[in-house]
Amino acid sequence: MKKLFALVLVFALLVSISAASAKDVVVAFSQIGQESDWRTANTDDLRNAIEGHAGWKLVYDDAQQKQENQIKALRNFITQDVDYILFTGVVSTGWDEVLKEVNEAEIPLLLIDRIPDCADKIDYVAAFGGDFVEEGRRQIAWAGEYLKSIGKGDVDVNIVIMEGTTGASAQTGRTEGNLKALKEYPHLKLVGQQSGNFTRAEGQAVMESWLKSIDKIDVLIAQNDDMALGAIDAIKAAGKVPGKDIIIVGCDSVKAAFDAIVAGEMNATIECTPLYGKFVVPTIEALIRGEKFDKTVVHPEEGVFDMDGGIDLGTVKSIKAADVIATRQY
Ligand code: AHR
Repeated sequence: MKKLFALVLVFALLVSISAASAKDVVVAFSQIGQESDWRTANTDDLRNAIEGHAGWKLVYDDAQQKQENQIKALRNFITQDVDYILFTGVVSTGWDEVLKEVNEAEIPLLLIDRIPDCADKIDYVAAFGGDFVEEGRRQIAWAGEYLKSIGKGDVDVNIVIMEGTTGASAQTGRTEGNLKALKEYPHLKLVGQQSGNFTRAEGQAVMESWLKSIDKIDVLIAQNDDMALGAIDAIKAAGKVPGKDIIIVGCDSVKAAFDAIVAGEMNATIECTPLYGKFVVPTIEALIRGEKFDKTVVHPEEGVFDMDGGIDLGTVKSIKAADVIATRQY
């Protein structure tokens, strides 16, 4: 009888151990929305990385560009007691309270893409984001160095800056980088600066109105490729030749921008990678093993792609888009 009791006990123990180890790791992701090709690639990449991992489950929320939806989603994740939270904020301010609630619930927080302004005041276990100031610097430096390379380095040219969603760190950072770099190129005269909200439709509308109200536009700096592609439609509709009459520099390096560069309708794109799965998965695996990380924001290595390659931007040299288009993942 004693033996039987011991056997039952061992069996019950084994069942409970295997049930515990079979419990899914639940990773929740609060995504901003789907305003651009970049954002779609970012969602797909993280979804594939997490759902493709044995024993991991993704809880996904698309906030449709609304901060209040993201706050609601984060509170839902806390109620569901998920194991990890991935977060990128539509704007950079207004997260202090809800992220402190995440901390109080002791759910490890991973910041990706856009790092909130309150990052210094909250706890997070790892952070991976774009170096937006450097991306903005590269956009202007590309235009300035390209003009020099075609013998127009000392000719006054009119430049417009189409900004992303107002208050997003990708907009504030790139604008800071754009404006600082402009000081290095005094022949680039800023004649327009407006938000196109990171979308193709608004990029097209802003360009249409600039083409009506500004006498001469030589260079368009679009803080993402989607806005550049929308602007290309507006430029064509106005009877001008994109990539020739107006030099166009985008940001992100999505497939459609590569196609436009190879077709000669866009001049350059500064890379901002959406592929964070390869950072997030090993980080969560390491956290599960009990490892810890510094509170430093990791910036992925990124390139610059254009029609001919060889433009030297100090920190990076541009690569001819046609040479690498077949290897692009997004
Ligand atoms: O935060 C990254 C930016 O957000 C990308 O440049 C843009 O396309 C996106 O939607």
